[in-house]
Amino acid sequence: MTTISTIGVIGAGTMGAGIAQVAASAGYQVALIDTTDELVQHGVDKVDAGLQRLVDKNALTTNDRDAARSRISGSVDVPSLRNANLVIEAVIESLDIKRAVFAEVDRVVSKCAILASNTSSISITALAACVSHPERFAGMHFFNPVPVLPLVEVVCGLQTDDDTVVTIQKVARTMGKTPIAVADMPGFAANRILVPMINEAIFAVADGVASAVDIDEVMKLGASHQMGPLALADLIGLDVCLHIMEVLHQDFGDDKYRPAPLLRQMVAAGLLGRKSGIGFHQYDS
Ligand SMILES: NC(=O)c1ccc[n+]([C@@H]2O[C@H](COP(=O)([O-])OP(=O)(O)OC[C@H]3O[C@@H](n4cnc5c(N)ncnc54)[C@H](O)[C@@H]3O)[C@@H](O)[C@H]2O)c1
Repeated sequence: MTTISTIGVIGAGTMGAGIAQVAASAGYQVALIDTTDELVQHGVDKVDAGLQRLVDKNALTTNDRDAARSRISGSVDVPSLRNANLVIEAVIESLDIKRAVFAEVDRVVSKCAILASNTSSISITALAACVSHPERFAGMHFFNPVPVLPLVEVVCGLQTDDDTVVTIQKVARTMGKTPIAVADMPGFAANRILVPMINEAIFAVADGVASAVDIDEVMKLGASHQMGPLALADLIGLDVCLHIMEVLHQDFGDDKYRPAPLLRQMVAAGLLGRKSGIGFHQYDS
């Protein structure tokens, strides 16, 4: 198993900041990278807010907060990752941008480093093809919000070797997460099951089966879901749900994954859920 002490996290957005927080809290040195100083600072501010929330809930001491924070450095400089043993990429969901990021990372890290992507939908095998050691490449798929949700899907590409899988599983456990190995298939496991369920709930609203509020109540009361599928769609972002359905539809070539026309309409109208204030439900600011 490869020993990991320093983790590079590329992309200081929603997921990157969460990953940096749990990595630093687990005792790793963390280098958090984004494209501008402002975006890096924004990510670091999110980590600070996340750690402070835990202190406020008495789930973290102020000493541990300060120790975690001191392990994080921010930068716009990918070459500063040269000492990282593990690099987790969490930039926007674009194959071209992720490929460019990994090509640059590949040039600076040691050949023993492990590279991982937090992608929700892009093939790990395809991403691994642009680095010099595809056997040391895997998916490390965290869930949002990272500090709260315990699952990490460890996605094995065609060439991922056992050492890489075992090392990533160990890192995930050290972060307090539960790793589950899954194959590199569209949607991996969680999104392949979850997002078509959300899509079906949207078809049900469009068919007049029940209102959005009632569909959510049905699944909470009748299926013991903590949150209804439409409230969950609003939380994930309807644009993200549509993108995942399109990937499933295209990559499996099976019409059972056809995105609901109402989902397409809502995205076209800019009704994206919580982030736009309106989706299947309404939100204050
Ligand atoms: N948000 C979720 O619920 C969620 C859940 C699981 C996985 N993911 C995946 O995680 C990844 C990131 O998603 P997010 O929601 O954090 O996105 P986000 O938009 O919040 O953050 C992406 C960050 O990447 C930065 N970035 C873009 N290009 C870059 C580059 N070349 N170098 C360095 N940084 C760059 C952006 O400036 C931004 O800060 C995506 O692949 C997404 O599919 C997201």
